Amino acid sequence: MIGDSSLSMEGFVDIHVHILPGLDDGARTKGDAIAMADIAAKCGIREVVATPHVDPSCLPPGCSQVEAIRRAVDSLQESIDSCGISIQVMPGMEIAMTPGLVAYLTRGAVIPVSDSGKYVLVELPFQTIPSYAEEEIFNMAAHGYIPIIAHPERNAEVIRNPNILIPFLNAGALAHVNAGSLMGRAGQRPQEIAEILLRHGLAHIIASDGHSATSRQPGLDRAFEIASRLVGEDKALRMVRDIPLAITLGEDVHVNEPEVYQACRKWWRFRRKEGS
Ligand SMILES: [Fe+2]
Repeated sequence: MIGDSSLSMEGFVDIHVHILPGLDDGARTKGDAIAMADIAAKCGIREVVATPHVDPSCLPPGCSQVEAIRRAVDSLQESIDSCGISIQVMPGMEIAMTPGLVAYLTRGAVIPVSDSGKYVLVELPFQTIPSYAEEEIFNMAAHGYIPIIAHPERNAEVIRNPNILIPFLNAGALAHVNAGSLMGRAGQRPQEIAEILLRHGLAHIIASDGHSATSRQPGLDRAFEIASRLVGEDKALRMVRDIPLAITLGEDVHVNEPEVYQACRKWWRFRRKEGS
């Protein structure tokens, strides 16, 4: 799977993978989860954050999803260790954007990335950006949380206008693109938008969003090669290793100001038509 052998392909950290068996649309069995861990390890990943989908507004009263995830992480780690696979699994969630996220966080109803207490993986709907999203991001930042927007390149409004992310980033949010989007697995437009986001500092991390050992695998090596061509190897390494590692440790992350993306208007085509 590793193409350019001159690149450093070790120590990657994946902050978004659906590896816990039976909790969402990711791994179905523990065997699937171990196969995913094996693939990740062979691609240079050393740590993963297990991020089952959770919509906190849909949790039934008294439902202890948090405890279920922590138990599943411990159990999976034991199995991975017994198989001799060198991967550390940490707890987390991919949390649906919903009103009142701070309240869910402060009362421990949802898990921040790696239990660091600071970074929170948040998923936007695919078609829209809810009207309350900006206020939620501001609120989280005001309470010391740093939202990480999951795969914005797959959101229809971001696809229409990548600059729509800038107010979120200026409020303190980070964003990650999917490795599969950079590889074209989500289609041409998400691939183009993922490239734009990385080039313009509108996204800062690459994560796998892996769901299985077959169709949506948990690898970062190929995406790292692509990102190295787009932004240079040093910046790409920050996106797959240094920044995600700092996030799992709850350390501060420093990123550049986002640049405004300006779409190419191709005006010269019209001028040529007028003149022809
Ligand atoms: Fe996901």
